Amino acid sequence: MKSRDRLRIAMQKSGRLTEPAQDLLSRCGLKFRQSRDKLFCFGEGEPVDLLLVRDDDIPGLIAEGVCDLGIVGRNVLREYQLTHASNGDGLDELRPLGFGHCRLSIALPQEDDYAEPSQLRGQRIATSYPGLLGEWLREHDVDARVVMLAGSVEIAPRLGTADAICDLVSSGATLVANQLREAAVVVQSEAVLAGRRELPLDERGEIAELLLRRLDGVIQVRDSRLILMQVPRDALGEITRLLPGGPTPTLTSVDGAPDQVLLQALCAGSVSWRQLEDMKRAGARDMLVLPVEKMLA
Ligand code: PRP
Ligand code: ZN
Repeated sequence: MKSRDRLRIAMQKSGRLTEPAQDLLSRCGLKFRQSRDKLFCFGEGEPVDLLLVRDDDIPGLIAEGVCDLGIVGRNVLREYQLTHASNGDGLDELRPLGFGHCRLSIALPQEDDYAEPSQLRGQRIATSYPGLLGEWLREHDVDARVVMLAGSVEIAPRLGTADAICDLVSSGATLVANQLREAAVVVQSEAVLAGRRELPLDERGEIAELLLRRLDGVIQVRDSRLILMQVPRDALGEITRLLPGGPTPTLTSVDGAPDQVLLQALCAGSVSWRQLEDMKRAGARDMLVLPVEKMLA
């Protein structure tokens, strides 16, 4: 294969992951010449190009060296690894990306009760994920028949071609619309950055490392919140325990109110209303939760 000095990233051409993936790359400082309807986007500034493809093709494109990295659902990556033993071997989930959360689940017609995996014995289960479903069935010692379908899996029980399905669930609307109920989760999934286990040793490897560093920074900032609040000194211990994880808070004294302090804390992850209400009940007031734009230690 002709050697390349530009990094190539594969991502979904049009679908749920497309917009958040493009947004993530642009936060990493990557700009692409606008041609989103086309297969190829040329990177301006950094030597990184995009290939827009069907999500199911992404692991194969990386395994075969056509692309260096890919943004794809964990479910698609793991399915490829399970069903393409030799090729899939060299692939790795480099980073979870924190968007596109969904799960691969087994679902049954609503009128069927479900209590345990053994009930699926002898059933026909329709899926586009024979590798992941097969692995789950083996782990649970269930002998069922896997019916491979490329699409429209959710209508198989109504058509009578299967007794159950194993498909992606995000909001759950598709299951409801097809009178199915979720019975068991096979894999929790989200978008991941996929790549070969060994980064190329040339310039592309260096660009990939730079991109990974920026990605880590972007993810850290995205998942951080700055909390500010006024706290009575004697409630400090309790309120600090209620704070979501992060470094130790900074305390500043409040002029004219010696029994109060201003607490400032950087928190990992979001801060829920419930957490805020708990802290308010413990005595905190004037609480502010702010997004973080950039961070440099
Ligand atoms: C998935 C899955 C379901 C639907 C579930 O398809 O096959 O049809 O999403 O989502 P819901 O729980 O929010 O209704 P997707 O659109 O991801 O397309 P693909 O599987 O063909 O890539
Ligand atoms: Zn797909």
